[in-house]
Formats: sequence, C-alpha cells, structure tokens
Amino acid sequence: VRVGVIFGGESVEHEISIISAMQAIAAMDENKYEVVPLYISKQNRWYTGKALTNIETFKDLDAAIANAQQVLLQTEHGHHYVYAFPFKMLKNKPIAEIDVAFPVVHGTNVEDGTLQGYLDSLRIPYAGPTVGAAAVGQDKVFMKNIWQANGLPVVPFVWLYSNQWEQQPERFVHRIEATLHFPVIVKPANLGSSVGISIAKDTDSLIEAINESAQFDDKIIVEQVVNNLLEVNCSVLGDFTHAVASPIEEVTGSDEILSYRDKYQGGKGKGGSKADGGKLALLKTDGAKTAGGGSKGAGMAATNRVIPARISEEATKEIQRLARQAFYTLNMSGVSRIDFLIDKEEGNVYLNEINTIPGSLSFYLWQESGVDFTELTDRLIQFAIK
Ligand code: DAL
Ligand code: MG
Repeated sequence: VRVGVIFGGESVEHEISIISAMQAIAAMDENKYEVVPLYISKQNRWYTGKALTNIETFKDLDAAIANAQQVLLQTEHGHHYVYAFPFKMLKNKPIAEIDVAFPVVHGTNVEDGTLQGYLDSLRIPYAGPTVGAAAVGQDKVFMKNIWQANGLPVVPFVWLYSNQWEQQPERFVHRIEATLHFPVIVKPANLGSSVGISIAKDTDSLIEAINESAQFDDKIIVEQVVNNLLEVNCSVLGDFTHAVASPIEEVTGSDEILSYRDKYQGGKGKGGSKADGGKLALLKTDGAKTAGGGSKGAGMAATNRVIPARISEEATKEIQRLARQAFYTLNMSGVSRIDFLIDKEEGNVYLNEINTIPGSLSFYLWQESGVDFTELTDRLIQFAIK
C-alpha cells in the first residue's frame, strides 16, 4: 500500500508537524507500506523526494525544498497520481502514485478540514478526521458549544469576534466581567500549541490579552481559569462506530499556562532550556526515531508528563468515558488527544480541547497500553482504506 504522508503547511505549527510526520514515517511498517512524503512548504507548495523522510533535511527549510521535487496531485480513473510541477499533462508521466493519504498536520489551513476537503475533492481516501469533524475540532468555540449541548462539562466562557472587539471593547469587557470572574484565560479560537494565549487578572490585563489574541484570529474565546489545576490528557482511537481510550497522561511542569515557548522551544528561565531557542531548535530534539523511543514525543521538549496520571482508578475511568464521548459527539475519526482541566480540590473535571491530529499522534500514550507506534499507524491506515 502506497501511503502519501502529508505534512507541513502554512500554519504556526509547521515545524511541529514536520517532527510528528518524521516520527510517523519512521514507525510505519516497511513491509506493508511504501511511504511517499508530501511536504507542504510555508508558501503552500507541495514537494516530494526521498530526502523528505529524513528529519535532518528540515534543519534548513529552504535547502529542504531546493532538493525536492515540486508536485501536484491528480486523480484519473480512480488512480491518485503525483505529478512533477510544472504540470504538462501530455508529456509528463506521474512520478508516484498513492493509494491513501495520511495527513500529519497541525493547525490552521491544514488540520482544520481544509486539507481534508482538498483530498475529498480529489477523491483520495485519507486517515484521520473528515472535513466537518476537523473543522469543528479546530475551533474552540464550536467544539465547546457541541460538547455543552451534549451535556459534557466545559468551563464557563464568553466568545467574541476580533472586529467587534475593536469597535466596542467596553461592551465585551462588561459582558466578560458579568459572566466570569478573574482570573480568566484568553485564547484565539483557532490556533494550536498555545499561540497567542494569555491569562488576565484584572480589566487592564484583560484588554491587553484580548488585543494580543486579536492579532492572531478573527474569533476569541475567554474562559474561566480553573483553580487548583491538574491537567490530564487522554487519547481516543477509532471512529463513531467504535472508539477506545488510551491511558491518561498528567501534564506537569507548566506554571499558569503552557505557552508555545514552554511546549516547543525548551521553556524559559530555570531548568527548561533543552532547546537552543528559535523555532528550528525544536528540530534538534531526538524523537525522529520510532516506537519505543522513550515516552516523550519530540518537539515537546520541556513538557513533562507522568503516565499513567496519578489519579484514582475511578477518575481514570471517568476521564476515559468523557474522552470517548467528546470524540463521538464531534463525529471524530482517527487518533485524537482530548485535554482536560481538573480542579484538584473540588474534584471538577472539564473538557478543555480536542487535538484532532495530535503532536506525535499521541503514540506515547498508546505505547503504554501495548499498541506501539507501528501498530498505531497501521490501524489508522487500515481505517482509511477499509
Ligand atoms: N496541536 C499540537 C500539535 C498538540 O497539542 O498536540
Ligand atoms: Mg492544540
């Protein structure tokens, strides 16, 4: 089976996607799958080439594409061809063919249903969520609205459009202060990896935080901060007919919020500096090797996790149940990671967000339950072609 692994794209999570994809490619069973790497540059051009399966290639993104072949996908008579660019139908023969696509993309313009819609329009089968699920799963307001409507627990929130904010900030400050109490957390509705997120403790910092988020997105969500915070994540694998939940990870080592910097650039201040700073530093992490390579996904250098989470058996079961429900209600398929917030003192559990194509495909969680990364990629491909 020829698998087109698609990664990169015009998203703030471009580099993280490269790491996740290199990990997934390394894990795929060579005897069953022939990988065709399909890298989308930051300029939204598509490339293929053997070098694009090696993480070293991506230490210099310009050099990576200089050594690759720019391509276009085309479906003819049920065959999904990869043509060299420029595309001269009469002269060119396809340089590759794929049977199934395997998106390993994070963030806007790719993970949010746009890539999936493109593949649908070409009639190419693919792993992971379908268009609607991917779109809803990328928008923190949509996902929470659906969870709420299905009786699943989410923290109180207010949402607004950036343009309305610019016109009438007082109106929204008033609404937020009437609905929530400080501290609150302000996020762009559609970005991943904690980009543009900040905590506000009073009116002044609220205004500043919304201004910050508004630079990144047309839509903003303001949420109640959970006190005595314990963060746990659970991965779910399957589709709406059958889904299983993974062991649970406890996220440690973040103070108020896990900023993009903490997550992917080795953190700031004491103890955190595993990466050298600058976005490409995260490509120096060691995780391009496959299943079994330690319990930490690459690109998550400074995020510490404990697996299984130090919570009761009962709480574990409840979180796994909620994770499966969260997955079902969004009509999800593939492998997701659902992130939870727990108030340790009051014992309240809230769904925070879903990652419909999570970093490292959450392989480290499945590994804990005896499903290694090779088996995980195998299941995802089999769901897509069955
Ligand atoms: N969106 C990133 C990759 C994650 O949280 O998994
Ligand atoms: Mg995310």
